Amino acid sequence: MQLKEVNANLDEKKYSLMVLLYQTFTCSLFTIHCTLFTVHCSLFSYHYSFFTIHYTYLCPHFMRKIVVFTGSGISAESGLKTFRDSDGLWENYNIEDVATPQAWHRNRSMVLDFYNMRRKQVLEAAPNNAHVALARLENKFDVRIITQNIDDLHERAGSKNVLHLHGEIRKSRSSIDPALVYDVDGWEIKEGEKCARGSQLRPHIVWFGEEVPELSHAAHLVSLADIFMVIGTSLLVYPAAGLVDYAPDGAEKYFIDPNADEHLSNHFTVIKEKAGTGVPALVEKLMNEIL
Ligand code: APR
Repeated sequence: MQLKEVNANLDEKKYSLMVLLYQTFTCSLFTIHCTLFTVHCSLFSYHYSFFTIHYTYLCPHFMRKIVVFTGSGISAESGLKTFRDSDGLWENYNIEDVATPQAWHRNRSMVLDFYNMRRKQVLEAAPNNAHVALARLENKFDVRIITQNIDDLHERAGSKNVLHLHGEIRKSRSSIDPALVYDVDGWEIKEGEKCARGSQLRPHIVWFGEEVPELSHAAHLVSLADIFMVIGTSLLVYPAAGLVDYAPDGAEKYFIDPNADEHLSNHFTVIKEKAGTGVPALVEKLMNEIL
């Protein structure tokens, strides 16, 4: 064999070796790439499932916020009287006699009797379809309820975040220290029942002429609403009624009340129905809009 041929053979072998090395190298690169891709996909799906769990169960901050503002109309179908409808409570009682600090100083037993009767009726009442539907909303939304009502029907229906603007009938408090608040055992606060500092217990109610301690908290909640619902209130009592002005311009707004004031219809979708029918229907619609 001549020297030239030997060199050509050697070049060919080198070339084949190089090709083989190159192929092995690219194959390994491809395999590494595929493995990385698989790891990436698994991480992504893990991340996605974690996000879903987090979104659905752990982090209500991602949910749309519904703020609900209720009045006595929502409890009417549970058998509790409203205040200003015909045969409402203020047709049969004078506010000045039973729901002011002056009344308490003048005739404490009359005030206690009035609220003892309210407590008895609340204990005998049960949540209606409207309370129950609002509680169901919490499965898909971050729900905050602001109520002017002193009954506990929202809580008994299962709502978890309820702010009572005007107090709670099932609680009593010291008449000298507002920080001393107690659960009432049964339906009565009796004359002679005292707080830890020795003063007569009074109903844990915000009376006419008293400050509304939860007002700014409530206004802040309303200002965060994506959806704002007003249910069963005449919107005649301030400062509570002023809360509707804090709802953001961009929020969806609904007003459910058979006698809803038409002047709100510029900003609100007005549903002139009783709470027991109007609220479950609206809740159903909102729930169906979410996957
Ligand atoms: N469903 C919905 N709304 C109803 C229903 C019903 N079934 N029945 C009555 N209503 C409506 C009435 O049309 C009215 O607009 O409930 C409203 C009741 O109005 P008010 O009697 O003025 O009661 P409310 O607005 O809750 O009063 C505010 O006044 O005396 C105070 O402290 C008390 O928190 C109360 C505040």
